[in-house]
Amino acid sequence: MEFPALNMAVSPEVEGVFDPASNTISYLVRDPGSDACAIIDSVLDIDYAAGRITYDSADRLIAMVEARGLRLEWIIETHVHADHLSAAPYIQQKLGGKIGVGARIVEVQDTFGKIFNEGTEFQRDGSQFDALFEEGDTYTIGGMTAFAIATPGHTPACMVHVIGDAAFAGDTLFMPDGGSARADFPGGDAAQLYDSIQKVLSLPDEMRLFICHDYAPGGRAIAWETTIGEQKADNIHVGGGKTRDEFVRFREERDAQLSMPKLIIPSLQVNMRAGQIPQDDEGVPMLKVPVNRL
Ligand SMILES: [Fe+2]
Repeated sequence: MEFPALNMAVSPEVEGVFDPASNTISYLVRDPGSDACAIIDSVLDIDYAAGRITYDSADRLIAMVEARGLRLEWIIETHVHADHLSAAPYIQQKLGGKIGVGARIVEVQDTFGKIFNEGTEFQRDGSQFDALFEEGDTYTIGGMTAFAIATPGHTPACMVHVIGDAAFAGDTLFMPDGGSARADFPGGDAAQLYDSIQKVLSLPDEMRLFICHDYAPGGRAIAWETTIGEQKADNIHVGGGKTRDEFVRFREERDAQLSMPKLIIPSLQVNMRAGQIPQDDEGVPMLKVPVNRL
């Protein structure tokens, strides 16, 4: 496909921060030509058994921005994560910046608004976010022009963000030896995921690709940076020219054996609200557990 604003001559500085509790990598992306930066896929710490939320991971990202004297322009969510809570509003409160997510968040809010039996006070129009990206939408980080590619399949609102010669995969692709993310959550679709991955693989081979989760398959060290070319050649689920049918069959069989991520219940309730903790009728922060609905 034709990509808007593709510019391999721009090379943002990218620092990944690994969260061992959720195997998530958060990114600080800096414009080399100014003091502007963005944060992609931040993490809030939760001890779910205790109902305790803390901010060490978010504070670490905030300290990185402050230590480098940067101005935070964007807080990007590649999708509504089901395995960790977003720290976007906490970071925004401290550093400013706009929170952006894919425009199909409204479908995710509708689906999970029903599953969690949210009342009418839960808006399903994406208004909790500052920006809703459509396919091909561009935005700037200092002097850099970024754009979003719609990559439904893992979830309807998934997007891959391209900033100069760097792309941020979200859960659309893992490292080549990790393959791809599951496509069996409500609103997920393995065939759509395959098509989305093909779109991402049509980016330039030498583009850097930063992934959102790594589980260190085979006991290797945690890794998060690869390239489009490496994915095309070696990705164990889609590389080497695997067909759509092969992928869908494999993905659906694998997904049927997976259990739910241990933080899916708190993660969805928080992340579909752009990272805000839900409150009960009296304004007390409170999470629900819907019974037999996932
Ligand atoms: Fe995910």
